[in-house]
Amino acid sequence: MKIILVGAPGSGKGTISERLIENGYNHLSTGNIFRKLAKKENDDTADKLRTFMTSGKLIPDDFTNEVAKKEIMELINENKSFVLDGYPRTEMQANFLSTICKIDQVYFLDVDQSVLVKRITGRRSCDNCKKIYNVFFDQLKPKQEGICDVCGHLLSKRKDDNEETVKQRIESFEEDTMPLINYYQKLGILTKIDGNLTTDEQLEIILKGK
Ligand code: AP5
Ligand code: MG
Repeated sequence: MKIILVGAPGSGKGTISERLIENGYNHLSTGNIFRKLAKKENDDTADKLRTFMTSGKLIPDDFTNEVAKKEIMELINENKSFVLDGYPRTEMQANFLSTICKIDQVYFLDVDQSVLVKRITGRRSCDNCKKIYNVFFDQLKPKQEGICDVCGHLLSKRKDDNEETVKQRIESFEEDTMPLINYYQKLGILTKIDGNLTTDEQLEIILKGK
């Protein structure tokens, strides 16, 4: 199965992806890839990526497509099931993706804007294994404050999780990514998921679509 998760910042794409990995899926998050690339020091590309990401703007399509294609082709060549988290994010990216593989299902995680802000401000992630937590929801809190349950490393807030950047990220989603809902609906492969359901309930819907 090849699936896409579309949703606003904080809608739960990464959280559901963690559960899909436990169910045999490979996970490809362009956000995670870009955060890793942006860490390089004395590197022009890293500087540019940081500028886009800290302002909440999308990375240009050509660069994004090139990065995504390399990873997706590896998964296709190995005949793996995968979940694309945060890619594609524009119609141009969706058109490009359609030239390299056929997607089975697209899940749109539909969450109200007021909920998104609470989720993003409460999010903490592990610096080491990247596991995602939330300090505002009991079932998503780490057992020990500030420490990852899985690997014991420190948890931190993402650099782009400040109020100003979140506003721009939500705007980019509304303008550039929302048109994809129509795009995939027309292809008959879109399923809308209530983002207020628990992660378990959302997972059940996705796994049933297998
Ligand atoms: P990316 O890393 O993809 O960020 P995003 O789209 O803004 O989404 P987030 O990771 O913030 O949220 P999420 O949906 O994964 O939610 P999560 O599961 O963490 O992209 C970052 C940047 O990279 C972009 O701004 C852009 O610059 C660039 N970029 C990336 N891809 C690109 C592309 N294709 N093109 C161009 N540029 C690109 O959950 C959030 C919180 O809510 C967590 O604390 C979690 O515990 C909690 N939560 C999750 N589910 C639930 C639930 N069901 N109930 C209650 N709480 C929940
Ligand atoms: Mg994410």
